[in-house]
Amino acid sequence: MTGLSLRAERVTLGYGGRAVVRGLDLDVAAGEILVVVGPSGCGKSTLLRAFAGLLPAVSGRVLADGEPVTGASADRALMFQDDALLPWRTARRNVELALALRGVPRRERRAAAERWLGRVGLGDDAGRLPRELSGGMRQRVQLARTLAAGPRAILMDEPFGALDAQTRASMQRLLLDVLADAPATVVFVTHDVDEALLLGRRVVVLGQDGVAAEFAVPASRDDVLTALGAGDQVKEAV
Ligand SMILES: Nc1ncnc2c1ncn2[C@@H]1O[C@H](COP(=O)(O)OP(=O)(O)O)[C@@H](O)[C@H]1O
Ligand SMILES: [Mg+2]
Repeated sequence: MTGLSLRAERVTLGYGGRAVVRGLDLDVAAGEILVVVGPSGCGKSTLLRAFAGLLPAVSGRVLADGEPVTGASADRALMFQDDALLPWRTARRNVELALALRGVPRRERRAAAERWLGRVGLGDDAGRLPRELSGGMRQRVQLARTLAAGPRAILMDEPFGALDAQTRASMQRLLLDVLADAPATVVFVTHDVDEALLLGRRVVVLGQDGVAAEFAVPASRDDVLTALGAGDQVKEAV
């Protein structure tokens, strides 16, 4: 299985007649790790929803491997900041659920879930409930659940935004580590420029009229901040 290419062609997105993103052109190559940055409210989550197939474009086209995106698909997984684990299921059973939805037979699910939990450093915690895990551990379970389902594109919406600095740094390393042997395309949204420059090979700054600036990594942090609009408002967001 290979990563999915994603493409937005003159895409306008909005809610109830109000446009949020206007005329966006963006190509994400198969297997690429693209980071999208932009101030709060600029439409980053909205863009991910469109790639996920959860929000139809007002105009323009959203394509995955050249085919119009018309709805959600297990090929395109979303991962959020808030943990979406089922509180009454153990870590293992939360990961197994993603496999069940993929039609993986029961007996294979358990082994695969344990393998993925081991991969994210939770081999000894498979039997614990979400409330018995720290925030960072719950994000590890979510990562295992996302990867276990074998998506071809992973759409990550500020997934580490709620974690303390040290836990966040270890999650960033873990993500790069697991992605090194997963072929998935990643669109990673953050408002943290340092996180963007660490994770991305390419960073785009999202503005109201599409991509406001684009950087190949390594890039200068100051240049990215300037493109973000500079000023106190952005520094505060970063
Ligand atoms: N479900 C919704 N209904 C109406 N407006 C929304 C909805 N979701 C987001 N918005 C608005 O769209 C704009 C962009 O939101 P969002 O994509 O969440 O921004 P970001 O993720 O960059 O912070 C904001 O003004 C927000 O209030
Ligand atoms: Mg958002």
